[in-house]
Amino acid sequence: MDRSSSTRIKILPPEVANKIAAGEVVERPASVVKELVENSIDADANEITIILNQGGKDLIQVVDDGVGMNAEDLKLAFQRHATSKIQQAADLEGITTLGFRGEALASIASVSRIEARSIERGQISGTLLILEGGRLMEEKPTGGPPGTSIAVKTLFFNTPARRKFLRADSTEYRHCLTTANRFALAYPEKSFTLVHHGEVIWEVRSQPLKERICEILGRRLEKLLIEVNEDAGAVQIEGYVGTQDTVRRQSGEQFLFLNGRYIYDRSLHHAIVSAYGEILAHGGYPLYVLHLSIDPTRVDVNVHPTKMEVKFADDRLIYSLVRGAIKRALASAKVIPDLQAPGSSFPDQPAATWLKSNWQSSSGPASQPAVDSGGSARQGTPIQPVDLYAPPESTQGQQPLPFQEEKSPETEPVPFTPAGGESAPTMNTQANVWQLHNRYILTQIDSGLIIIDQHVAHERILYEKALRLFEEARPSTQKILFPRMIELSAEDYDILQEILPFLEKLGFMIQDFGKHTVVVEGIPAGTRIKNYTTLLQEMIDDYRRGKRNNLEIRDNIARSYACHTAIRSGDPLNIHEMNALIEQLFKTETPYFCPHGRPVLVNISLEELDKRFGRT
Ligand SMILES: Nc1ncnc2c1ncn2[C@@H]1O[C@H](COP(=O)(O)OP(=O)(O)OP(=O)(O)O)[C@@H](O)[C@H]1O
Ligand SMILES: [Mg+2]
Repeated sequence: MDRSSSTRIKILPPEVANKIAAGEVVERPASVVKELVENSIDADANEITIILNQGGKDLIQVVDDGVGMNAEDLKLAFQRHATSKIQQAADLEGITTLGFRGEALASIASVSRIEARSIERGQISGTLLILEGGRLMEEKPTGGPPGTSIAVKTLFFNTPARRKFLRADSTEYRHCLTTANRFALAYPEKSFTLVHHGEVIWEVRSQPLKERICEILGRRLEKLLIEVNEDAGAVQIEGYVGTQDTVRRQSGEQFLFLNGRYIYDRSLHHAIVSAYGEILAHGGYPLYVLHLSIDPTRVDVNVHPTKMEVKFADDRLIYSLVRGAIKRALASAKVIPDLQAPGSSFPDQPAATWLKSNWQSSSGPASQPAVDSGGSARQGTPIQPVDLYAPPESTQGQQPLPFQEEKSPETEPVPFTPAGGESAPTMNTQANVWQLHNRYILTQIDSGLIIIDQHVAHERILYEKALRLFEEARPSTQKILFPRMIELSAEDYDILQEILPFLEKLGFMIQDFGKHTVVVEGIPAGTRIKNYTTLLQEMIDDYRRGKRNNLEIRDNIARSYACHTAIRSGDPLNIHEMNALIEQLFKTETPYFCPHGRPVLVNISLEELDKRFGRT
């Protein structure tokens, strides 16, 4: 090659450069929908119509009532790097518009035929342009209402290889619909219409976000949305997360918006999902529609060709703020699976507080000594340990549950009497608590009735207690009178070694006896364990299973322990046991779901009962 005659490196002609850029921005019809609607929103449009034919392969037209463009600007708009949104590099530091690269229209135009028409606000006439492959073919005046309409016809007509790669119309249509849905959910204050093959798919007018969600994603969600609204300083979080009933095996109803832009952020998705805790123990995707507002100078949106991924300056902080906000929202009473009458709502207080105060005001005074199976004071008042199974003296006539053989001094039962204050009234334990079929506990609260599943409730209590015990220095153990020798398989023995430090924290005393044999000498204080061998075996099996599912070790053991040592469905409980159970339940952090995600309680309001009896 003759190097002197010409350079090897050449600047590409604009048509080629645009086509290459189009490869990044325009992947399929849905990408065109995204770019055009973004432009309409940046142009301050309030009404946006999206018209599609053949899944957008044939036609994608976006009509808006935005500020419009004059003839010069309309022509410039199709030039590469032509933008009205930023002027200098420094502007990139705090982008407040959806577009800023001045690339989208040039890229789209380079791979399609375009009919663009725009009339500036306040004018009655404007310009119509016809472009083909990015080249201006025709320009003429036009009239009509102000705004802009960009019609993109036969996408990829001049890049046959890419046109061939488009999927079936129905698939492309689905992608367009997803994109359109995102805008509708991102801007509930704007009106949108989506039309496919002349049929109006949906048409939405300015409305509150909750209503918008129901219109776009379905009326079934009406009762399943929990509001999130927190100003956490670095980030404002607004929107809705779904209850357990919105959890799906597949993703698709997760919408996260940052400063009005739909984003996909794996870490924030994780923050949201992890806030559900064990409700999602078995995986799945809860619905969410969340709007985050963050100072634009703390976010870089210029890291991905379609701007779908962003970079946060304070990513860890944002992660924990989002997670915290969702957790708090979920802890609100609305998460309780209930039989509420349509339209009735829970109070705004955090659920645990609400339930507690409601319950106490019906069945006993709020100054009742706090009862806690774990013995750790978490709510300011000194909490004494109490054995759920140990009936106070006054109930000796009743049938106590069979329980531990021997007690260590720390686990002496504390009778249910007030903590010494003279004015403290006694608890009205006779009233308002019933056991149904030795399985459910019914209790009256101010607003109606709560039904508690005794097994899952106890499971929840023990689970949280176990997690606390892991953090404590001194386990509380009750020695057993007749130590039990257990022979394990080599594999089980191995697993036992792995979990032994945790079992000891819980209060188990297990000695190695050699040859895969161990001796159980003590068990957690205050528990009732019928068969140590079975319990150990079950916990080993659960641990193995949980490990396969990547459960965190403590969580894994705590769940298993709670599940196998909780009172059973079928165990009769006396009134004191029931009261203790309820007290302890309301002290847990998440009283509504057991560690496996099953509901602990159901709330039926008076309103609902009245309705059923035809009183309203
Ligand atoms: N619907 C519209 N109404 C009014 N002006 C528009 C409209 N669409 C595009 N424009 C103008 O055309 C310019 C170019 O649009 P284009 O989408 O190519 O680039 P951008 O939005 O500035 O940046 P990006 O490439 O990141 O989208 C915009 O900056 C805007 O001034
Ligand atoms: Mg744009």
